[in-house]
Amino acid sequence: MKQIIKAADLELAVKEAKKQNLEIGLVPTMGALHEGHLSLIERALKENDFVVVSLFVNPIQFNNKEDLEKYPRTIEADLELIAGLIDRMEGRKAKELLAFTPTVEEMYPQGEPKEVYHFGPVEEVMEGPRRPGHFSGVAVVVRRLFDLAQPRRAYFGEKDYQQIAVIRALLEQIKYPIELVPCPIVRADDGLALSSRNMRLSPAARAIAPTINATLEQAAEMAEYEEVDDVKEWVLDTLASFHEVNPSLCPDGLKFEPEYFEIVDARTLQPIENWEAAGDLGAVGCIAVWLDGVRLIDIVKF
Ligand code: PAF
Repeated sequence: MKQIIKAADLELAVKEAKKQNLEIGLVPTMGALHEGHLSLIERALKENDFVVVSLFVNPIQFNNKEDLEKYPRTIEADLELIAGLIDRMEGRKAKELLAFTPTVEEMYPQGEPKEVYHFGPVEEVMEGPRRPGHFSGVAVVVRRLFDLAQPRRAYFGEKDYQQIAVIRALLEQIKYPIELVPCPIVRADDGLALSSRNMRLSPAARAIAPTINATLEQAAEMAEYEEVDDVKEWVLDTLASFHEVNPSLCPDGLKFEPEYFEIVDARTLQPIENWEAAGDLGAVGCIAVWLDGVRLIDIVKF
């Protein structure tokens, strides 16, 4: 593994790889790596000759200054995790992994980028209206990474389900021949979707956080015989009333505060009113819940 900080050095390494006809896999991350990220990197190492992992906390996708400041920056530990993965990984195809860890100035040498992306309906639901400018900021950095790394494949985790739809729309707009590879959520043994935000949960909050996934799994079972609206209402009520039903698990006013739970077409991300309305990718339920001052997201496929 090599660490690269300068965009120009990444471009040189990519040029060299292209000369040798190597297929490049890109795994964009914001660092604070956990097993979820490692599963993307592992897959990229198996499917490509050469892998670029970017670790960059992208300021322009945060619409909340405090969230940006609080975002964990753990580059040294991240690099160790990647090295550990490479060491223990059998059957990898890639001969080389570059960890690209640019500064903000390196990534945006002209200052804050002026370009703005619009993606229409896929960004007008769920996270879009709640985090104005977020997806445009993601698109700017991802396009820059595409330009620098020129990957054949790019790997994204399905926890950020809407982000995948937005990147799909970005690829349609810019017409780059890059295969978007969505990768399944990795969960803790108790079902909680892995996220760098989980480390901000208090022990009591961490103990009840798996309720989110458990509720979604039960919702998937209910979908066999209940209408879409009833499943939605049940999920929101179950989480919102959890502290009343389980007061001993919820000390000091701890409670789930669901921000949204939407059941949408998995491709268009538009809400569906009945199960038959879902298209080729089926239906997916996407949730955002506040717990202990931390905003958690998760999904369930129906
Ligand atoms: O999913 C993330 O971690 C980020 O949104 C991404 C894709 C690395 C862009 O900064």
